[in-house]
Amino acid sequence: MTAHLPLPVFSPTLDKTLQRVDIDLPQERSYPIWIGQDLWSNPNTWASLPKARLALVVSNTVVAPLYAQALIATLKRQYERVELLVLPDGEHFKTWETMNLIFDRLLACGADRKTVLFALGGGVVGDITGFAAACFMRGVPFVQVPTTLLAQVDSSVGGKTAVNHPLGKNMVGAFYQPEQVVCDLGALQTLPARELSAGLAEIIKYGPIADMAFLSWLEDHLDLLLQKDPQALAVAVKRSCEIKAWVVSQDEKEGGIRAILNFGHTFGHAIESGLGFGEWLHGEAVGCGMVMACELSCALGLVDRSFVERLRTLIARAGLPTRAPDLGLEAYLEHMSHDKKALAGEIQFVVIDAPGQASVRRAPKEMVSKVIAHCVAL
Ligand code: NAD
Ligand code: GLY
Repeated sequence: MTAHLPLPVFSPTLDKTLQRVDIDLPQERSYPIWIGQDLWSNPNTWASLPKARLALVVSNTVVAPLYAQALIATLKRQYERVELLVLPDGEHFKTWETMNLIFDRLLACGADRKTVLFALGGGVVGDITGFAAACFMRGVPFVQVPTTLLAQVDSSVGGKTAVNHPLGKNMVGAFYQPEQVVCDLGALQTLPARELSAGLAEIIKYGPIADMAFLSWLEDHLDLLLQKDPQALAVAVKRSCEIKAWVVSQDEKEGGIRAILNFGHTFGHAIESGLGFGEWLHGEAVGCGMVMACELSCALGLVDRSFVERLRTLIARAGLPTRAPDLGLEAYLEHMSHDKKALAGEIQFVVIDAPGQASVRRAPKEMVSKVIAHCVAL
């Protein structure tokens, strides 16, 4: 797919100073992503946010005890009142019903159009809170405060917000951009290993679709990332945000190139829906989905087998599953038919055209079926 902006050069030598990546969008929707250490407890981080009487921090039962009080203490310097809403934790709570709890609290505490929402958590809290911000009084400001690796490198950036529907992942939502994104790398130190691996899946994704130099760097530094080395994490988060910003700044609402960010997601969403939300983590399903999408690219004659094996090896080293769960062929096809890229009932896939380049294509049903059968049997 054609990019009309050059991708910024990858410069992997970073010190630990504060980093900034910009999302450039029309009509005042541009915003910065801040990446660094000890950002949430620093009042300067929040100084440029819109003024308001009330702020609502939305978090969950796991993250709130770890980080909410420090954030609230800092925000209290700036807002007259700061409320905390603690949602239940987990993908199976990414629902319309959970989002309603945000509206209940906003209305109960006298929120108005200036009230600022803070999404303190992983992608689930970020996606629900962002969608609530888009809907409440037809739109109030919100800030992404991502606490998982996955959220720092992907979900908090770019303005996709949503809740799940029992028939499909992220089926109800809106494009709605945050005021800013603040990635405090220190929060990743409390992240369980399985969640770290899930985040690595979305980081690895940026290599085959856009930047083979970054893929090589990941191959060389994966062990450090698995050990949560702060320097390596800073490089990986910044480069991922740069690539995502480059894509989103060209195509905010996925009319074209943004679709490449869904590499592995058509198969991955089918795995998540088919197994039941929360059974496999989103990043795990995407990791396996990328292997499947790469197999499909190989079957289409776009990449060679050595490239598939290279990607599979890295995904496995990251602690992610590479063998597809046996949902049954019909279940895979049924779940994939609900994919948002499907047109007139025909499923479309993000495939790798050549290492570092991706596009969206249709593939014959027999070929897709063979790829699924192959990946289940591995
Ligand atoms: P998550 O939000 O469920 O967080 C994973 C787990 O880690 C949860 O149990 C959470 O409470 C816990 N946690 C969060 N931060 C922690 C910390 N610092 N220390 C310890 N535990 C912590 O999952 P996720 O992987 O962050 O996000 C997945 C979601 O993001 C999916 O719903 C997916 O659809 C969505 N997503 C959205 C986009 C987008 O563009 N909007 C992109 C990718 C994924
Ligand atoms: N995670 C895919 C996107 O933001 O478009």
